[in-house]
Amino acid sequence: MNEIVLNHPLITHKLGILRDIHTGTKEFRELITEISTLLCYEATKDAKLEKTIIETPLEKMETGKLNEDNYAIVPILRAGMGMLDGIINVIPNAKVGHIGLYRDEETFQPIEYYFKMPENVSQREVLIIDPMLATGGSASATISRLKEEGVKKIKLLCVVAAPEGINLIEKDHPDVQIYCATVDRTLNESAYILPGLGDAGDRVYGTK
Ligand code: PRP
Ligand code: URA
Repeated sequence: MNEIVLNHPLITHKLGILRDIHTGTKEFRELITEISTLLCYEATKDAKLEKTIIETPLEKMETGKLNEDNYAIVPILRAGMGMLDGIINVIPNAKVGHIGLYRDEETFQPIEYYFKMPENVSQREVLIIDPMLATGGSASATISRLKEEGVKKIKLLCVVAAPEGINLIEKDHPDVQIYCATVDRTLNESAYILPGLGDAGDRVYGTK
């Protein structure tokens, strides 16, 4: 089991609105952002803190400081960009890399069209973000590409995951932990997640 599912009433509530066909673009974006922040909260639970001394108005104290610069956030274009604000809200100094992939409509295989990473990406912990883990092809290809660049610590954050996608990541990349808001039932014949939320990119950008 390499997936952590956020079982929480807030997530169930927000997912219910997100999935609804009647939810418009503005609310859809806001909900993706909020759920992404909650996913990031979970995915950074093991973060190492540096000891630091600060001064409150009353006295000095020792506290912990996150080296935000250690993180690179990698949205899978384009739907992954919809999650970025939710992560940057809580790790504002993280670097951001982009990978552009789209699924071929017939083969469902990912086709890469863009790749730009921050300097020294191999030294950073990478959080890949994409709302949908369907066949898992896009996420698996992204992880392979990052490993080619020498990245060693990778986590995958998604909103809706299908069992098929989770299984593929577990097979191809057993070292990568998946954080998702829900695991849905299955895929349909067009490799869309059921019950899912439709085409995440189209709903984030209002393109359909
Ligand atoms: C969607 C989604 C994932 C991918 C998931 O992107 O955002 O990247 O499909 O499917 P998979 O697990 O079967 O690979 P899409 O290809 O629709 O591109 P878009 O983000 O540009 O809309
Ligand atoms: N991509 C989406 O946007 N939605 C799905 O259900 C599957 C892949």
